[in-house]
Amino acid sequence: MVRSDTKRLIRGDHLSGQITPESVVHRRRAIVLAGAALATAGPGLVQASTPKPASAYAPLAAKPSRYSILERPVPFEEASTYNNFYEFGLEKEDPAERAPGRLKTAPWKVTVEGLVARPREFDIDELRKLAPMEERITRLRCVEGWSMVIPWVGYSLSELIKRVQPLGSAKFIEFTTLADPKQMPGLSYRALRWPYREGLRMDEAQHPLSLLTFGMYGVILPEQNGAPLRLMVPWKYGFKSSKSIVKIRFVESQPSTLWTLTAPKEYGFYANVNPDVAHPRWSQATERVLGTDALFAPRRKTELFNGYTDLVASMYAGMDLKTFY
Ligand code: MTE
Repeated sequence: MVRSDTKRLIRGDHLSGQITPESVVHRRRAIVLAGAALATAGPGLVQASTPKPASAYAPLAAKPSRYSILERPVPFEEASTYNNFYEFGLEKEDPAERAPGRLKTAPWKVTVEGLVARPREFDIDELRKLAPMEERITRLRCVEGWSMVIPWVGYSLSELIKRVQPLGSAKFIEFTTLADPKQMPGLSYRALRWPYREGLRMDEAQHPLSLLTFGMYGVILPEQNGAPLRLMVPWKYGFKSSKSIVKIRFVESQPSTLWTLTAPKEYGFYANVNPDVAHPRWSQATERVLGTDALFAPRRKTELFNGYTDLVASMYAGMDLKTFY
C-alpha cells in the first residue's frame, strides 16, 4: 500500500518471486541488524530488539472453530515481525520494533455508539468475556500481493452487535482505531488521513466470519498485530481488518475510511479479495505465500473472496464487483 511500488521494485516482488523473496531479505536484514547491534552495543540493547516469543504473552483459551481452513499457519515469529501497522512506521519490521513498549493496551476502553438502542463503553476485559472464544485459522490476504495463514482467537463480531441492539436505520459500522502521537510515531506521516478508520456494511459485519479478534496462536495479540482488539474479515483484503480499535459506530451511510480518503482510486470500500480485479498498479491474480522456509517462496493463485465464495457471495448478488471493488 504505502510506497509498495518502491518496495516491490527494491525487493523484486514484481518478478513473481523469481528473485530472493522478501521474507528471506527480511531475515537477512534482521541478522545484519543483530550483528551490528552486537558490535556496537551492550547485550541489553540486543535483547530489546529481539522479537518476543508467543510464550511471552498471556494465554487466551479458545475452542476450535468450524470456519478454520485446513492449512498450516506460519510460525508465530513471522506473523509477529512482518506487519502493516502504519501508526508505527512504513516498513514491515517497524511495528515489531516500535509497538512493544510504546503501545499501552491496558487500561483500554471501546466505545460503541451511534444508531443502537444500547450504546455503551466496554472495558477490554469485559469485552473478552462477552462470548466464548474460538480459534480460527484463516488466511490474511494483503492487497500488496502476499498472504499468511494465522490462527486468530476471538468471537464473531455479531455477538457484540446483537448486544447493543442496532436500530433499523443502522446500515454500516465504522471502526476507529487509536491515534495517539505520544505512542505512535508513524502518525507524523501526514500523507495518510489519520486516524485509521475502516467500515463494513451491516450484513458483512453480522456475518459469522467477521471476527472480533483478541489473540492469535493461543495468546493475546502482540502490540504489533493490533492489541488489544482488531478485526479479521477473512474474505476481504487485510486492510479492512483494523487494529487497536477504540470506537465502533453504527451509521446510516457508507463511512469514509483512511484508504478511501487517502487513495480512493486504489482502495475501494468493499475490498473483497478478487483475482479478476487488478489494483491500478499491479495484478491481484496471484499472491506470495509468506512463512515457508523454501528459498523461493511459492506463489498461489488468489481465490475469489479468499476462498469463502460459498459463504459470502450471496451478500453481493447483483453487484458489479468491478465497480464495487
Ligand atoms: N490497522 C491499523 N490501525 N493500522 C494499519 O496500518 N494495516 C492494515 C490492517 N490493519 C493497518 C491496520 C493492513 S494494510 C493489513 S495487511 C493488516 O492490518 C496487517 O495485519 P498483520 O500485521 O497482523 O498481518
